[in-house]
Formats: sequence, structure tokens, C-alpha cells
Amino acid sequence: MAKKLFIKTYGCQMNVYDSARMADVLAPLGYAKTETPDDADMVIINTCHIREKAAEKVFSELGHWRIRKTEAQARGNDVTIAVAGCVAQAEGEEIHARAPFVDLVVGSQAYHRLPELLARMERQRAAERQRAGTQAAGAQAAGAQAKGQPVIGMGVLDTEFPVESKFDHLPEQVVTPPGPVGFLAIQEGCDKFCTFCVVPYTRGAEYSRPAEAVIAEAGRLIDAGAVELVLLGQNVNAWHGEGPDGVTWSLGRLLRELNDRFAHRHPKLRWRYTTSHPREMDDELIAAHRDVSGLMPFLHLPIQSGSDAVLKAMNRGHRAEDYLRIVEKLRAARPDIALTSDFITGFPGESDRDFEATLRLVRAVGFAQAYSFKYSPRPGTPGSLMPQQVSDAVSTERLHALQALLQEQSAAFNRACVGRSMDVLVERPGRQAGQLLGRSPWMQSVVLNDPTLKIGDFVTVTVTDGHANSLFGELAGASREAA
Ligand code: 5AD
Ligand code: SF4
Repeated sequence: MAKKLFIKTYGCQMNVYDSARMADVLAPLGYAKTETPDDADMVIINTCHIREKAAEKVFSELGHWRIRKTEAQARGNDVTIAVAGCVAQAEGEEIHARAPFVDLVVGSQAYHRLPELLARMERQRAAERQRAGTQAAGAQAAGAQAKGQPVIGMGVLDTEFPVESKFDHLPEQVVTPPGPVGFLAIQEGCDKFCTFCVVPYTRGAEYSRPAEAVIAEAGRLIDAGAVELVLLGQNVNAWHGEGPDGVTWSLGRLLRELNDRFAHRHPKLRWRYTTSHPREMDDELIAAHRDVSGLMPFLHLPIQSGSDAVLKAMNRGHRAEDYLRIVEKLRAARPDIALTSDFITGFPGESDRDFEATLRLVRAVGFAQAYSFKYSPRPGTPGSLMPQQVSDAVSTERLHALQALLQEQSAAFNRACVGRSMDVLVERPGRQAGQLLGRSPWMQSVVLNDPTLKIGDFVTVTVTDGHANSLFGELAGASREAA
């Protein structure tokens, strides 16, 4: 009988991608994915370490799984608990100590070794059972109660950074049906060492997959039904992969080639990429926004702060004015491009004037949407050791002020869409019965309420209402068209 695999994913889209690939790796071992945790034989908690809150969630989630495991063991079954991702990478030993019932801890570079780790765990379990059996027999002989303690976690740990890339070892075929949106990791890791960030430590050095591997995987995703492809990487625009011609390609070139090769497969095939760094926004990539028909008019380009002093302390390697220049060039190339960003408030040393510079930059750019966070000192990063840490009260106050401004901007951006028609790809069920959620070219969520629609449809929608976080729309005339 197929074993059931439940995966709980935290954090970024790279983790979503990794979760799908872990399911692919385990499928040949008889594990089928389930969406209901209750009947899982194995759970993988794919974790995020970026901020302290994200990391702490893992331990509370593990508390629930400990109970499930004990209950299963009481019924003579077991639930294999695996912790994957960046918390596993960074805090493998701590997980071992704080949650000894965890069976497997697998770092973000070791997923391809999951079958081997599972086999090792099974061998340990068998040996443990045998030992428990021998002890029980001995105890029975002595007339004592023969109720052995349940076998709890075995703690197989793999958080090595291998010399070879995990991409060379992951299975080729895409087993997990991607739905209409396919995620494709083209780059991993980061060498930028922003002083607040754990990514360079948890994901390792920058690595770009060769263009041919990317093209082949894009083809498989499209074969499996994807009509929107999202190229992923922690520093995706730092991608510099070897082309089939032996020459190093930039991301701009890759997008052009991908679109040229696959545009005939679907009239509305879409491309996106995330997450980008301002330092890597070269002219070829900016030109791709002008020239590549399927590339969506959208860019997530984190800036973190609008103050040059803070940007310097963060080791970002660019100034506010460099960012503004990039925005200018992008808008010249693609006037309707929507920009989103990430911000941190309360980075060590941030003064009121520094924060005002951030508000000024936000006003100057006008973002379609943005994520903003309070600075969270992460152990092992230079930022956590800097003097002049900003108090929580001040960081919170600034965060609220920034979020109010950003909300205003996203509400204005969405309101400006009311009455307009746009192509929407229907992606998933909405929150309420009968609702479906789609995406506009500008990455807005579009709520649709139409019984004739199904996931995977591309439709032209007239926007009827615009809020800070979503649009509402209805089908524009007889425009319906199956994907
Ligand atoms: N504290 C707060 N926010 C952080 N981010 C990354 N590290 C930290 C940290 N230590 C934010 C950045 C990044 C996003 C993914 O998370 O804004 O762009
Ligand atoms: Fe982290 Fe900076 Fe690298 Fe982005 S560029 S992953 S924020 S170190």
C-alpha cells in the first residue's frame, strides 16, 4: 500500500519548489502526497530561518507532531518526522536536542539523499526493535511487565554542503503535477552577505544551473500543464549559467531563449523570476522587459532601506539613487511595469532621518505592493553584533508608519485597475465556496465568482473592484478561452 507523505512548507518560493522536489524523490519509494496530516505516514516540515519568528514556528509545529507520533506508536504504527530546509541546515544539532523524537534532519543541500537517509533510519529502527525485543524477553523471564517504551526518533542528520550540486542528483522527471504555475529553481545560494541575512549561511555560495538543464525542466513543466513559469533563486538575477553554445548567458539572455523556444506551446505563456538584487539588474535583463513578449510586467526588487548610511551598514552594495536609476530604466523599457519590494525597519543604527529617507524613497518610486519587516537579529550574522540596536518600540512604530504608506500605495494601484480589462490565469480555489483566485499580469490576486471557470483557464477579466490586497473581476464579454 502506498505510504502517505504530508509536507508542510514555510518561507519562500524556493522552499515550495524544494518541497515538490522532495515529493519527487520519495515517489519511487512508494510515498504518495496527501493534503490531510491525519493519515500521514511521513511528514516533512520544510522550514524557514530568515527571521526568528519563522524559526520558532517550527518548534511549535513539532510539538503537534510529537503527539501524533506517540498516538500512532500506541496503535503499533509510526509517523516518520523529517525537518528540512534552512532551520535544519542552521540548527540541526539544536533540533536534535530540543526535539529528540524527530527522525530525520535534512539540510537544504541534501534532499537528493533522502532515500539513503530513510534507509539508514529503517536500519536503526530495526536494530532498536531487536534490542527492545531482547530486553522485553529478559524482563518477561524475570516476571516483570514487558511493556517497552515506544521507539521515538532516531535522529539521522544530514546538513553537509556537498561539493557537487544537488541539482545533478535530483530526479529528472516532474512527478508532482505543477498546476498552471510551474516553479523552476535556476539558481541557489548567495555570496552577497547582507549583514542582516542568514541565507549565505543556510543556502551556501551562489550556484547557477546550466541553461540546458533549465530549458529541459521548463519543457517538462510545460508538458505537465504549466502555462506560467516562475524562475527561482535567492539571487535569481545573479544567474550566469553556461549556455549550450559554451558561452556564459545572463538571465536576460536566458529569458529571451526560453520565450523563443516555448512561446509556440501556448499563446499566453507567461514568465516571471524572483528574487532579484538591485546590483544584478543589468541592461540585458532590463531590455528583456521591453522585448520578451511573455515576460510579465512585474518585478520584485528588494531595497530594504532608502538611507545610504543604512544600506552601507547592511552591506547592500548600492545606494538609494542607484535603485532609483534602475527603476527609471525599467519604466523606460516597460512603462506599465509593477514594482514590489522588501523593507526592514530598525536595522542597527537607523535614525529618524534614515527612516524618513526610506519613506521618501517609497514615495518617489510608488510600489504596487511590498513586504516590510522589523529587523530580527539572527545569530551568526554581523548585524546581530552591531552596537546601536534599535529598540523594539521604535522599530514597531516605524514599521507601522511604513506599512500605512505602502498599503496606501497598493490600494491606489489596485483601485486604478477598476474598469480595466486584463488577462487572468485562474490558479486555485478562493477562500469562499464558488470562488476562484487568479493572477493578473501584475501579480495581483483576482477574485472570480463564475461557475463556468476552472483552474488553468486563461480569461480576460474586467476589474469591478480593487482593494489593498486583491481585485474582484468578472469575465469580459465572450472572451472565455480554455488554457
Ligand atoms: N530581519 C528582518 N527581515 C529580514 N529579512 C531577511 N533577513 C531579515 C532579518 N534578519 C527580510 C528581507 C528580505 C526578506 C526575504 O526578508 O527584507 O528581503
Ligand atoms: Fe540575503 Fe542579501 Fe543574499 Fe538577499 S542578497 S539572500 S538579503 S544576503
